[in-house]
Amino acid sequence: MLKYKYDQQAIASAIKTKWAGKTVHFAKVTDSTNNWLKQLAKEGAPEGTIAIADYQSAGKGRLGRVWTAPPDTSATFSLLVRPTFAPEYASMMTLIMGLSVAQAVRELGLPAQIKWPNDAVVSRKKICGILTEMALAGNQIDYVVIGTGINVNIPEIIPELSDKATSFYLETGKEFDRCEVLALVLQYFEHNYEKYAQTCDLSEIREAYEELLANKGEPVRVLCEEPYEGICLGINDRGELLVEKEDGTVSCVNSGEVSVRGLYSYV
Ligand code: BTN
Repeated sequence: MLKYKYDQQAIASAIKTKWAGKTVHFAKVTDSTNNWLKQLAKEGAPEGTIAIADYQSAGKGRLGRVWTAPPDTSATFSLLVRPTFAPEYASMMTLIMGLSVAQAVRELGLPAQIKWPNDAVVSRKKICGILTEMALAGNQIDYVVIGTGINVNIPEIIPELSDKATSFYLETGKEFDRCEVLALVLQYFEHNYEKYAQTCDLSEIREAYEELLANKGEPVRVLCEEPYEGICLGINDRGELLVEKEDGTVSCVNSGEVSVRGLYSYV
């Protein structure tokens, strides 16, 4: 018997936002909530619709990987937005969701940080994964689907990932209410997204992001063709990581090109 209810009604009544998550589709099982929501988007679903599954039989990760989580353990959902801004600004949706998850996790009492650009981490291990997919209508955005899997009550992590992933349960020994987790993430996302959409840059939420940024003010290694080290200063309004090199110059690191590690750990 599960401690907390997790169904359409429990989820819908936990959500207190204006628009994010106002239309809830829930299934015990689906292949992938991203696939499901893309179909709903094609059929005209409104902005803010979410598709949630207790279990995904073919969950998708980044770079064509699979994303798996046992039934009854995860907050696995996809959120639909229909921005009117140009497609080039949509790549920030993943970063904004990463920030929103980290903020929600902190509000629930866990010391979450962000591993640039969009991984919410606790104890320097990932607590969620985000996969954003976009469709265009001509040269405008038709829809963006932001798929998020949060490791809430996962009791163990497979050995291959045990040094890279964690869950609320593993960090605290306690079960959490997935409805509450979801509702908080949506609340933060709605706020952060609205701020972003006003300016199409991160100026309004950069400070909040940098407060949670792991390695800020610390040495990092930028992994690119010619790796280098420097001090992480924060991000700019385009979400690029600012790294000060030994000679005093500051490079703007773009997430499409490279990854960045703290000098002393995976994160
Ligand atoms: C990653 O590789 O880190 C991204 C994982 C994204 C997983 C989520 S779970 C909900 C949504 N539906 C999917 O099929 N994938 C995303």
